[in-house]
Amino acid sequence: MRTPLIAGNFKMFKTAAETTAYVVELRGLLADARGVDVLIAPPFTSLAAAAAAASGSAIGVGAQNIHWEREGAFTGEVSAGMVREAGARFVIVGHSERRTLFGETNATVNKKMNAVVAAGMTPIVCIGETLEQRDRNETLAVLDRQIKEGLDGATGEQLAAMVLAYEPVWAIGTGRNATPAQAGEAHFHIRQRLKQWFGLDSAGRCRILYGGSVKPDNIARLIAQPDVDGALVGGASLDPKSFLAIVKGAAI
Ligand code: 13P
Repeated sequence: MRTPLIAGNFKMFKTAAETTAYVVELRGLLADARGVDVLIAPPFTSLAAAAAAASGSAIGVGAQNIHWEREGAFTGEVSAGMVREAGARFVIVGHSERRTLFGETNATVNKKMNAVVAAGMTPIVCIGETLEQRDRNETLAVLDRQIKEGLDGATGEQLAAMVLAYEPVWAIGTGRNATPAQAGEAHFHIRQRLKQWFGLDSAGRCRILYGGSVKPDNIARLIAQPDVDGALVGGASLDPKSFLAIVKGAAI
C-alpha cells in the first residue's frame, strides 16, 4: 500500500549542466522501471534545470533545504515559495549535516516542515542518532524527541502525506550502513510512535525511508524490512547507473 520511494540527495554535487545531463540519462534508464517512486534533490542552483529535464517523466525534484520565512532580510537563504517556483515538489528538512554543521535544531526543523507544507510541497524530515547516542543506548529516545518536536503541530492528514527519513549519523558517507535488523528496529519504533501520536491510518500511510550508505548491493535487504519504505541515497545517487540499480533493487 505504500509505494517505495527512492530519493537521491546530491548534497553539494553537480552544477546545473551536470544535473541536466544526469536527468537525461536517468530518464532513459528508468523508462521501464515500475512500482517505485523516484526523486532527486540537487543543489538550489540546479533545481530549475532538473525540473526542466525531468518534465513529463516520473522523476520528482526536491530541494535540500529552505528557510521557513516567506521572504525577508535573510542573506543567503532561499524560501519554500522560491524552490517551488524553480520546480521543487519535495524538500529535505533537518538532514544531519544541517543539524551538525549548520546548527539546525528540532525547533527549526519544525518551522521548516510547516513552511514546506504551507507551500504545497512534501517535506522529507530527517531524523537519526549519532554514534555516541547509540553507544549510550539513547537511540529510541533521540528519535522520539526528533519526531515529537520536529513534527509538533502537524495533523494526521499532513503526516500521512509526509516522508520521514531515518538516517543514523554514523552510517552517512562512512560505508558503514545499519544492518537490516538495526534499520528494521528503528523503523518499527518510529512507526509505533507515529501510530501513537498521529493515529493508525495516518501512520500507516506515511513513508519512512532509510538513509546511510545505501548501495545497489544492500538495498534489497533493507527494503525487505516491513517498515522500510525506500531510501534516501547520497553518494550512490550521483551516478545514474548505480541509482538505477538501487531503484530496481527496491522494486523486488
Ligand atoms: P550516503 O548514502 O552517501 O551515506 O549519504 C546518506 C545521506 O546522507 C542521504 O541523505
